[in-house]
Order: sequence, then structure tokens, then C-alpha cells
Amino acid sequence: MVGSADVLADNLSVNMGVEPLPEDFDPSTLLKDTVPPVVLSNGGAENSNDNAKREIVLGRNVHTSCLEVTEPEADDEVTGEREAYMASVLARYRKSLIERTKHHVGYPYNLDFDYGALAQLQHFSINNLGDPFIESNYGVHSRQFEVGVLDWFAQLWELEKNEYWGYITNCGTEGNLHGILVGREVFPDGILYASRESHYSVFKAARMYRMDCEKVGTLCSGEIDCNDFKAKLLCHKDKPAIINVNIGTTVKGAVDDLDLVIQTLEEAGFSHDRFYIHCDGALFGLMMPFVKRAPKVSFKKPIGSVSVSGHKFVGCPMPCGVQITRLEHINALSRNVEYLASRDATIMGSRNGHAPIFLWYTLNRKGYRGFQKEVQKCLRNAHYLKDRLVDAGIGAMLNELSSTVVFERPHDEEFIRRWQLACQGNIAHVVVMPNITIEKLDDFLNELLEKRKTWFLDGKSQPYCIASDVGEKNCLCAVHK
Ligand SMILES: Cc1ncc(COP(=O)(O)O)c(C=O)c1O
Repeated sequence: MVGSADVLADNLSVNMGVEPLPEDFDPSTLLKDTVPPVVLSNGGAENSNDNAKREIVLGRNVHTSCLEVTEPEADDEVTGEREAYMASVLARYRKSLIERTKHHVGYPYNLDFDYGALAQLQHFSINNLGDPFIESNYGVHSRQFEVGVLDWFAQLWELEKNEYWGYITNCGTEGNLHGILVGREVFPDGILYASRESHYSVFKAARMYRMDCEKVGTLCSGEIDCNDFKAKLLCHKDKPAIINVNIGTTVKGAVDDLDLVIQTLEEAGFSHDRFYIHCDGALFGLMMPFVKRAPKVSFKKPIGSVSVSGHKFVGCPMPCGVQITRLEHINALSRNVEYLASRDATIMGSRNGHAPIFLWYTLNRKGYRGFQKEVQKCLRNAHYLKDRLVDAGIGAMLNELSSTVVFERPHDEEFIRRWQLACQGNIAHVVVMPNITIEKLDDFLNELLEKRKTWFLDGKSQPYCIASDVGEKNCLCAVHK
């Protein structure tokens, strides 16, 4: 597709109408390392493979280089030197982004987009501060786009226009913070239940709001274990329940069974007026509706809110998200703000007014059918990757409703950083998004298999056992293969 990262690499003038770099531009003369070195906790950079390098170093982030801000010289304006310097820094940076984008497979961002038509808007300070449905005094806003996008999502999740409230957030995390806050406002003494594989933002919400939180166990797929959930509910029958349901977990892409969660609540004696469900659909919130057999996320069920990230499956150059809840819940949360002449029921103050326009643009362009096709392609490609890994003797797992392929962590941290793999313990994953083509997967696999030949040569290293992460049947270590 026009504008995809791969196309961009060859045709540098496509996106946002920027000038192409000169033909003879050689980034290697400027970029010493396109992939930053692995840094050990003692500050040294090394390629060794022991566990020490997995430590996260606190303090100044040692991977990050710094582009110093310097005072302009008095005559810079005359000589144009400063402009030329800044242009060269930006050109180098852009080149490195193209490089890094090519090797991006571990995080769930769809990088296949072309928003060239929106370049004309970058000169405007578009801010949607306040409530999307109540115009504030600030006139340079994009509420008309925001409400259009919100209507689309409310319809997707089956909530009538006059029954929903929502807003375009800064990210999926803000959606979780908001959904859980609404739950807490509805049930101030409620206990938060979330599977231990929930995103860290859910536990962050519990800490921020000082809520009691019960971590529920998971099955090896990553899905919430409803037996454990029921046992925990029964321990706190006297308190209402606020539940975070995962529509795709971060690491394994597991989808909690919403119907089973509701059934479990009912069986534990919780009537519908004693629980609040927030659905964290950061990634799969927009994929699930297009997967046959997937449990349906719908406000026809007793749920309170759903959130999704806008920069993940939709694809957007800036982080953003969508949060939808029931209008009846929002009144408890909102306050009038005279200074804005609007109402405040969001988490943040100023809100990115460009993001709704980007989302509106893609929704209009692709529509339901476009997303459906892309979801099918992602699932097909994810199966391809998983099958090839297993054929090569690498333990791997792919949940039925997911495009997140979990596999044995590579033994080479350079390789992990080059392909930007998200790792946890002995597992890594690739999240197959619309921009991840079979060709890209082949490049990744060929390089992985080539490197892998060298890892076990001296007999000191063995393929990791991943049975405790993904189950024995998906592990191909020496014991389980
Ligand atoms: C399940 C889940 N929830 C929430 C988030 C947070 O989303 P964001 O990065 O948009 O804040 C993520 C991010 O990966 C996620 O995987």
C-alpha cells in the first residue's frame, strides 16, 4: 500500500510531502549504529548472552543518545548555518526511522498508513480540551471529527447514540485509567479484579486510585482462569466487583471469555447492579469484531466501558485511543469548568485534536470491509509465522483469536534489539499487523534461523524451556520436544 514503511524506504517523497534525500545520501557515514548496543547494568556495552544483560538499568537511560540544544550564534540567521545543521539532523533522524521501521515486528503498531492528505493541518494547534459533546470557548478544535469517530465505535460495540459517552484519549492506557475510574466512581468500595497477564496500566490504575486489587490467575493461553476468579470473588462477596476483561493480552494476545466472566460473576452471587466490567481492547478491540467465533464485545451485555488504542490496529503516527462508556455513568465523574465553558470528565486536560482527524480519515477510507480484510490477512500471516517456527524446531504458540505469535526468546540480544522484539522471561513475540507481510516474516525467519545455527554450537546453551509460559505441547526444548 502506498505509504507503507517498505514503500517509503524506496520512495522517500511519499509521506507528508517531504523532500527526498539526495541520491548519494549515505546514512552509515552519519549513523554509526542503526541499532543501539546492548548495555549491561555496569554501564558497559557487550554482546554476551548471560542473564545479566536482561536487567533494566534505572537512572539515565543508557540506550538513549542526546541531541544537545545549543544557543544560536549571533550571526546564525545571516549565515543560515543553524538552519542547515538542523535540517541535516532531521534528515539523519528520518533515515534512521526508516531503517528502524523496516525491522519493527515486536510491537502491535500498524505502520501501514498514508496520511499525506492531512499534512495541510499540521500548522494548526488543534485542541479538544473539555467534553467532546460540549463545545468550549476554544475554537480551534476537531470535535466534529471526534464525535464522528466515537459514533462509529459506539455502533461497533452496540450502544445507541443517546446512551453513550466517550472521548478520544491519548492512548490505550488512558482508556484503562478512565474505564477503571468510572468503575470506581460507580462502586467507590469496589474491589478491582484483573488477570495477572493484564497490561501494567491496570495495576497502575489500582495504585493511583488506591483501590484494593485482586490479581487473578491465568490459563497457559494467557486467558483469565475463571475458577480462580470465582474463588477470589467468593472471598469478597460483601464488596462490589470492578473487573478488567482483556480483549487481547499484551504478551500472548489472549482474549478473556467475556461471557464466562459474566457467568462466573452471576454464579458467585453478583447481580448486575453489583459489578462493573471494563474491557481493555487496546489491540484486539478493533480486530475481534471481525473474527468469526470470537466472543462478542457488546454493550448489550452488562459491561460498563471499552477502550482501544488508535495507533495499534488502525495505525496512526501519534499515540491515541478511543474510550466508550455508558452516558449514565459519566455524570458522577464530570465537573463543569467555567474557564472552558465546557464540562470535564476526561483524565487529561488538553487533548490532541489531530488524532481524531487521523482516525476519522482511516475509518472512512477502510470501513468495516477494509478492516475485515486486514484482520484476515493478519491472522493468516500469523499462522504462517507460527508454522514456520515450529517446522524449524522453535517452540511457539498462537492463540486461536490472535495474531500475536509467542516463541522461544532468541539467544542474541543484538537480534532482539534489531527486530525490536518484546520479551518476557524466556518468551518473545511478534505481533502480526497489516504492515507485516510474508516477505518481512521471511526476512525475519531467515535471519533468525541463520543466527540460531550458531547459538548452540559449543553445547553450553540449550533452547529455552517455555513450557511454563505456553504449555508443554508448545515447547520444543530438549525435554519437551
Ligand atoms: C492489553 C493492553 N492494554 C493496554 C495497553 C496500553 O496501550 P497504550 O500503549 O496505547 O497506552 C497495551 C499496550 O500494549 C496493551 O497491550
